[in-house]
Amino acid sequence: MSRKLFTVGPVNVEQDVLRSMAKPMITHRCKEYKQLHGGIVEKIRKALDTDMEVFLVSGSATVLLEGAIRNGATRRTLGITNGSFGNRLIECARLNDKEVEAINVPWGRPMQPKHIEGRVGRGVEAVHWVSNESSTGVLSDSVALAEEVRRQKPDALTIVDAVTSAFAVDLEIGRMDPDALVFGTQKALALPPGLAIALVSDRMVAKASKVPARGFYTDFLKLKKNADEDYALTTPPVSLMYALDFQLDRILAEGMPARYRRHDEMAKAVEKWADRRMSGLFPEKGFRSKTIGVINRGKLDFEPFHTALKAKGYEISGGYGDVKETTFRIGHMGDATVRGVKDLLDAMDGILEGMK
Ligand SMILES: Cc1ncc(COP(=O)(O)O)c(C=O)c1O
Repeated sequence: MSRKLFTVGPVNVEQDVLRSMAKPMITHRCKEYKQLHGGIVEKIRKALDTDMEVFLVSGSATVLLEGAIRNGATRRTLGITNGSFGNRLIECARLNDKEVEAINVPWGRPMQPKHIEGRVGRGVEAVHWVSNESSTGVLSDSVALAEEVRRQKPDALTIVDAVTSAFAVDLEIGRMDPDALVFGTQKALALPPGLAIALVSDRMVAKASKVPARGFYTDFLKLKKNADEDYALTTPPVSLMYALDFQLDRILAEGMPARYRRHDEMAKAVEKWADRRMSGLFPEKGFRSKTIGVINRGKLDFEPFHTALKAKGYEISGGYGDVKETTFRIGHMGDATVRGVKDLLDAMDGILEGMK
């Protein structure tokens, strides 16, 4: 049975987007592929208002997060975290042999410049964090963090996980000026999973040329050489790229300001509901995600509630990490609408009445 997904990702993919994948296969070294690849890169740049390098790699977002860590530092990084995915990025750096100094910000609180004051020391080559922490629903100000990193150490690189914020929130990429900003297709782009996307700076590519163990699949110099010719380094998910190209046209037709506004309105509707029916949202006010409502469960028995919701044709997400048992999450990103979110909330109201 197909369900309406208000999950944290993958999320719903519209029928016309799915249909756009059903085209004859092409090889990834032909002229048609080059046009497809180059067109996608230009549309991403236009939507995100940037002229940064764009890498497209088969895989989930993590492959390019790992790639950014491998290419952006030989020995030392600083990792700021306020949840599971920030912790995962730190783990990823450590597993790639980096010495990571971790700064732990309490869950539910935003990461702020004050947390890294005096911490971007001489040996720190790169600083990494998550823009929108999917376990807690906190949206931190990545522009302020990136500015603070550069204030302390102008040549330190910034690596930003924007997996659940890119294409839903205006990240002000021009002001942030990140060295790698990474996301995937299955979140606010509302596409099937399978393609990792990174915006990469010239500084990152220059750094990569001095870093030895970049691997093959995630070698930013090889990726850049291919990207310069509008090709992928390894076999790309061509069908998914047809859908991405189609979806980028839809996104540009909606307009980014309208898209950002829609995500804000969906977040407000969920916040209002959480205040009315539950024990409010988990994250601190003023720093709440526009894509994921992390709701304090209170006394709600989540499993039977979710089972009843699924029977009505909806799926949401449980809690994650340290707040797994005390929260649940509603994802509202991609092509979700305010009307659709309100219908979900009405269905949830109906179930809560029945559980009384
Ligand atoms: C904030 C954040 N970072 C990273 C990831 C991992 O992304 P992927 O599964 O596309 O590698 C997720 C997945 O939910 C996420 O929410």
